[in-house]
Amino acid sequence: MNNSKLKKQQTLSILKPDAVSKRKIGQILSRFEDAGLKIIAARLLQLSKKEAEQFYSIHNNRVFFNDLVNFMISGPIFVQVLEGFDAIQKNRDLMGDTDPKKAIPGSIRFDFSDSIEANAVHGSDSLETAKFEISFFFPEINIYNS
Ligand code: CMP
Repeated sequence: MNNSKLKKQQTLSILKPDAVSKRKIGQILSRFEDAGLKIIAARLLQLSKKEAEQFYSIHNNRVFFNDLVNFMISGPIFVQVLEGFDAIQKNRDLMGDTDPKKAIPGSIRFDFSDSIEANAVHGSDSLETAKFEISFFFPEINIYNS
């Protein structure tokens, strides 16, 4: 596709505790870089319960909310901002379906994850979400979409 027609975006990507504990950070980051996405900020950290509840507050009335929060605080996570043309959709395509059983072979979740909960990666699903999620972890970054 002709990249000149696509918008340069930034999106938040998280490598979840399962991916970090399995030492898959390097292999997963290669997927993003090889697809043309640039890592412009990154941190390795462990979320507190309060932070995880805030980050996933959009899901706070879902039945899986408590399990999701407990999983996300169970170990270190790697958070990063990816930048590139159509970065939000490109990241989601690389990740694959939320449920690894439905993800296409070759996607990150198909290759590196075991369950819908321990599904290796998270990625922003819209421009609005990307703004919230990037500023949650990287308040110093000026987000643009040009
Ligand atoms: P993520 O992209 O991080 O966004 C919310 C997370 O909730 C999702 O990935 C899954 O890991 C997790 N989750 C757990 N159970 C479900 C479910 N039944 N449906 C959707 N997401 C779920």
